[in-house]
Order: sequence, then C-alpha cells, then structure tokens
Amino acid sequence: MQHSYEDVLNENLGTFLRGWGPVSWNSQFEDIEGIDNAPLAQMFSSLAGIEDVSFYMQVKIRHSGVSRLNAIKEFNAIWLAEESEHVRALSAIGEYYGSGQLLRGHSESYLARQRVTSLPLLNLLGRTYPKGMLAAYLTMGSVQEYVALSSYNAASKLVDESFVKDILGQIARQEGRHMRFYRAGAEAVLKDDPRCQRFVRLVMEKNWRAPGVDLLGCERWVQTFSPLLMGTDLIERYTRLDELCGSLPGLSGIELMKPFLMRCETTLQKQSSIPI
Ligand SMILES: [Fe+2]
Ligand SMILES: [Fe+2]
Repeated sequence: MQHSYEDVLNENLGTFLRGWGPVSWNSQFEDIEGIDNAPLAQMFSSLAGIEDVSFYMQVKIRHSGVSRLNAIKEFNAIWLAEESEHVRALSAIGEYYGSGQLLRGHSESYLARQRVTSLPLLNLLGRTYPKGMLAAYLTMGSVQEYVALSSYNAASKLVDESFVKDILGQIARQEGRHMRFYRAGAEAVLKDDPRCQRFVRLVMEKNWRAPGVDLLGCERWVQTFSPLLMGTDLIERYTRLDELCGSLPGLSGIELMKPFLMRCETTLQKQSSIPI
C-alpha cells in the first residue's frame, strides 16, 4: 500500500523525537572568565538574534495553517524548544567573547514590517492551497536548517576553546535533525505533484533569504559573519545548498544561494578577498 505524505510525516516525527534532548551548555560557563574577541562576540550574539526569530515564526506557522497537521504541531513544539535553547547558548558564547550588546529579540520595525507584508497572504494561501503551503514550509525549513548546520560546523572549527566547540557541535547536530525532518517531509509532499513543485519553486525563488539577512541587512550580515566566511570552507558549503534544494522532486536547477552570494559579492570583496 502506498504511504500518504501524512503517513511519512508521522513516521518522520517518530524518528525525530527519538533524538530529542536539550543542548547541555550552562554548566560549561561556570567559573569561566570571558575573553575579549569583538568579532566573535558580535558574530555569536547576532547568531543568537537570528535564532530568536523562531519565536516570531510561530505566528507565521499558525497563519499558514501547516500546524493543523498533528505531526507538524508536535515537531514544531520540540523545534521551538530546541531553537530557544540555541538562543540562550549562543548568547552565553557571545557574552564569553565580551559582547556587551546582545541582539535578543527583534526591533519593532522588523516585526511590524513582517506582520504587514506577509501574514494576510499566508492566511489566504493556507486556506486556498494547504498542500502547497505545507510543501513550501518543509522545503524552506530544510534549506534554512542546512545553512544553520553548515554555519555551526564552520564556527566550531573557527573557535579555539574546546567547550565552545562542544556546544556548537551539539547545536549543529540538532540543526541536522531538524533538516532531516523537513527534508524527508518535503520529498514526500512534492513527489508526483507538478503543481505543488511549481508553487514551491516560485515561493523559494521569490522569498528565500539567507537566515539573518532580513534582520541585519546584506552589508551587516557579511560584516558580522566575515570571520566565518573568511576563515573556513563555509562559502563552498553554502553553495551546495542549490544542489541540495534542486535534488528535491521538481526543483532541479533552482538557484537560491548563488544569486545571493553574487549580490553580496561587492560587500564580501570590501571585507577582504573572499573567493566566491
Ligand atoms: Fe538553531
Ligand atoms: Fe534548527
């Protein structure tokens, strides 16, 4: 008997929940003196701010209607708990490197803009084309988690302290679990549905942004993450995103990261000679 995509989501949820558990980080900061490293402080506190967007995502998820499915509702509760813990752990790392200005929460203008521009449309699409919205949510999730996973793996190579490497490794593993849930769901929902595939391609091409770009703007994003972009193979990993997204049913040839990096190229080159 053929499995429906809802069956697949339920099975994925079971696999996802087996790996659930908190990131262990707070005891690692006991009796530890911070050090001054302004670029790392800025980078980690910005990462905390970017992760914090997951709180606001709840509003979008509710409006899009995808959480009407039990598997998504259950996944989302754990996902939010895990992302919330990432905010706290990354804030603590930012503080360890001397960050005096944590980027917790959002600026009102950012929230207000998001509220005005996207919620009515999400509502409408969620009611008129729920399967398309589900496929878009899962595809977007898989792509964003891939960026997160790559970034934390790169960050763990960049830092010297073993306890920071350990925390970043734990976060990266959770991002990997999130990515696998989204990805397997996207594959199941997109399979054999050309209309859904066309819809998701359009949504992705029009709406995808690298995590944090909406919050920081392109120039500040590049400047904030320049330690990672310069010091690791992250650009190479980022560019694999198009290939990964393009291997989902019906999305072959999609380009998201490449045009984004090209748009950032001037800023990247101003920072240093980062190869794209
Ligand atoms: Fe996260
Ligand atoms: Fe995640």
